[in-house]
Amino acid sequence: MKLTILGGGGFRVPLVYGALLGDHAEGRVTRVVLHDLDADRLSAVTRVLAEQAAGVSDAPEVSATTDLDEALTGADFVFSAIRVGGLEGRANDERVALAEGVLGQETVGAGGIAYGLRTVPVAENIARRVARVAPDAWVINFTNPAGLVTEAMSRHLGDRVIGICDSPVGLGRRIARVLGANPGEAWIDYVGLNHLGWVRGLRINGRDELPRLLADPDLLGSFEEGKLFGTDWLQSLGAIPNEYLHYYYFNREAVRAYSQAEKTRGAFLRDQQAGFYDEMKRPDAAALTAWDRTRAEREATYMAEARETAGAGERDADDLSGGYEKVALALMRAIARDERTTLILNVRNRRTLSVLDAEAVIEVPCLVDANGAHPVTVDPLPDHASGLVCSVKAVEREVLAAAESGSRATAVKAFALHPLVDSVNVARRLVDGYTAVHPGLAYLK
Ligand code: G6P
Ligand code: MN
Repeated sequence: MKLTILGGGGFRVPLVYGALLGDHAEGRVTRVVLHDLDADRLSAVTRVLAEQAAGVSDAPEVSATTDLDEALTGADFVFSAIRVGGLEGRANDERVALAEGVLGQETVGAGGIAYGLRTVPVAENIARRVARVAPDAWVINFTNPAGLVTEAMSRHLGDRVIGICDSPVGLGRRIARVLGANPGEAWIDYVGLNHLGWVRGLRINGRDELPRLLADPDLLGSFEEGKLFGTDWLQSLGAIPNEYLHYYYFNREAVRAYSQAEKTRGAFLRDQQAGFYDEMKRPDAAALTAWDRTRAEREATYMAEARETAGAGERDADDLSGGYEKVALALMRAIARDERTTLILNVRNRRTLSVLDAEAVIEVPCLVDANGAHPVTVDPLPDHASGLVCSVKAVEREVLAAAESGSRATAVKAFALHPLVDSVNVARRLVDGYTAVHPGLAYLK
């Protein structure tokens, strides 16, 4: 089985490889091909993987290339984890937004739109190449903004592209744990868009245990989302939102905290990772140790401003190991070996949410088998949540339209319609600011 990783020089590739190293079963991945535009990053990551594989007799063979078609040919699975414009681009997404007093987060608000506008054309090009060179491959998209990018790719690949994110899994795991249940045995009633979903129920042996959690302020305040959103607000909602909804429900505080931070998240990661990749240029550097140190620091500081705003304190030790590689591996196993399972994934809506059309990519529990991912039936969202989902999906559609037409006016419309952008004039200035700093937006005329 051949797995191709696009963005193969990326920092999180060793997480995926580590998960593969633990899989010894029949039908496992035996070949990994890393593709990246940057050969230095490829060699840095290859060094880390070689150290990870030391002593593992059946470790998947690793090769690297900067040629996309060569990487894709013969692939059974393609993981797409690219970052158009790099972390410098992410830092610019934040900076330009903050200058206008709006949020520049990687996936939410103006920052997510800017990142989407420069990523969609590249992701669509990749999807076209996959359709041509590896038409039977399954594409697993990690590239953020994951829902939007998955939808862009699905226009070329249909249901053979599936988007993943670890935040709903982490949320379900935390809720199950505070309820004293085994996360593997809990049925999580979750739906929305990527980074915009709500847990409305959690059934253990057929019984919904969420009301018990919502009724108990001590229990509710004891885990990440309880601390982030506050118990009163969770009780008012009657649901547990994805952590990224903090940027909506506490937008003013989030913008303020981001503006006051010494460095935004993108700038912090840009500098941190530059240190790692520089270190890898030294032939004597201990690659795996350096990578692991950098990873641990990244995980410990995840969403630090949001937690600080809410007075939530440090992350729980149990929450530190993200698990996104576990979702990717579980999905691949279910498809490759027809090992039926349920996973929360980004797939086309079909008739799941009646407020959206069939092609809209949503985030929802899916039954996965050799035929792919099939969304399960869920209850409708309450109006406040449906409203947000529809607004944000409309914005995503404007981003897709702008990428297709190259129209600057459509890009302005995307920003202006976003609930976290508070004036059409702001939207116009955002497009000016972003096109001035991002070469990847030169197509907007
Ligand atoms: C979570 C999100 C991902 C994001 C990751 C890392 O897992 O669901 O979409 O890529 O965190 O965030 P960071 O701020 O460290 O890049
Ligand atoms: Mn995510």
